[in-house]
Amino acid sequence: MTTAADPQSLLVTLLDPAHRADPYPIFRQIREFGPLRLPELNLAVFTSYADCDQVLRHPASASDRLKSTVTQRLIAEGNEARPVGTPGFLFLDPPDHTRLRGLVSKAFVPKVVKNLEPDIVALVDDLLARADGTFDVISGLAYPLPVAVICRLLGVPLEDEPRFSEASGLLAQSLDPFLTVTGAAGDGHEARLAAGLWLRDYLRTLIAERRRHPGEDLMSALIAVEEAGDQLTEDEIVATCNLLLVAGHETTVNLIANATLALLRDPAQWRALATDSGRAAVVIEETLRYDPPVQLIGRVAAEDMTIGGADVPTGDNMLLLLAAAHRDPAVFGRPDEFDPDRPSIRHLGFGKGPHFCLGAPLARLEATVALTALTRRFPGAMLAGEPGYKPNVTLRGMSELTVSL
Ligand code: HEM
Repeated sequence: MTTAADPQSLLVTLLDPAHRADPYPIFRQIREFGPLRLPELNLAVFTSYADCDQVLRHPASASDRLKSTVTQRLIAEGNEARPVGTPGFLFLDPPDHTRLRGLVSKAFVPKVVKNLEPDIVALVDDLLARADGTFDVISGLAYPLPVAVICRLLGVPLEDEPRFSEASGLLAQSLDPFLTVTGAAGDGHEARLAAGLWLRDYLRTLIAERRRHPGEDLMSALIAVEEAGDQLTEDEIVATCNLLLVAGHETTVNLIANATLALLRDPAQWRALATDSGRAAVVIEETLRYDPPVQLIGRVAAEDMTIGGADVPTGDNMLLLLAAAHRDPAVFGRPDEFDPDRPSIRHLGFGKGPHFCLGAPLARLEATVALTALTRRFPGAMLAGEPGYKPNVTLRGMSELTVSL
């Protein structure tokens, strides 16, 4: 028997789009129960900063869902193990994770990313030159910027973007924890599978084209590695490009938008950034804590583990509610306040440990350029209405953020 306030019903409530605009009161209620064990779902849920941090650093925390008891049960029932093929390295463990991450990490080191700055500045100037009157920050800036940057980096034609943006949006939803929390795959499961297969086909066609006509892009570089020996298969190139494309589409958008909203709700902070671009770094880090674009991440216990006093048996899924951990009063004073000037800002917004976000330097650079340009150009901007939110739980973000310039 469940009641409105029991932790499992609170987790189900979290999936309800009605709570997307402000999920934080629910995160707080769930956190107050401490670590949750739901043995009937083979699930443990962690919500304190210390527990999430420990899981991410733990050597027995696996990312490959094939190690999960729930996945194994589905396979035993006749379901395909990997219905859309090889996963991106976000969902792999060593040695495959180490090898694949190593092959693409060179493209994302801060020095290489810094070289993209002039292009990013030009893109932002161009987007903001078209802004006047009432401006939707999502469609006018936060969405087109990261998409143009990742397409350019990967070598995906920007003209094709409208064709795969829908697939990317559906794939972002497949990160939501329907199955882990409710035991059911959630509405639109078939559509998400179809989107995954479609995007892989699209990438396969593009890879064939780059094989014939290589460019300066990352896809051509990965093809060259494949052709040089046995370090990489074509399936892995597809999976890696797919991961980067979806990561580049669905996360930085939300960082730029969430920071813009927090600043607009505190006009003194907006003006402070408008006059001092040096504040961008603290604004961005505090946004990653206060309103993180990735609200939760998952792991599988590859061995029996004990976290925060909770025993997690081998094969159980672990859900880390980062958005709850970031407002843990044991770590943060006034956790529900957006305060870029707090004495020290810590967060797990880019993850931690071996899977720490590869795109973090790029995301920080794009957000810095976008937020400094937006506030400097429009120092008197005001919120023109309540923002709209997409239904996504994990990659939570706005669909619309209208500003009066
Ligand atoms: C504000 C924007 C971003 C946020 C908040 C973010 C957040 C994260 C988080 C939390 C993880 C770790 C997931 C886990 O441990 O399970 C991650 C991993 C990753 N991110 Fe990002 N990300 C952002 C932007 C980007 C961009 C722009 C790219 C590249 C184009 C990118 C590429 C990746 C990749 C490849 C991984 C997997 C790393 C691995 O498994 O070793 N991210 N990101």
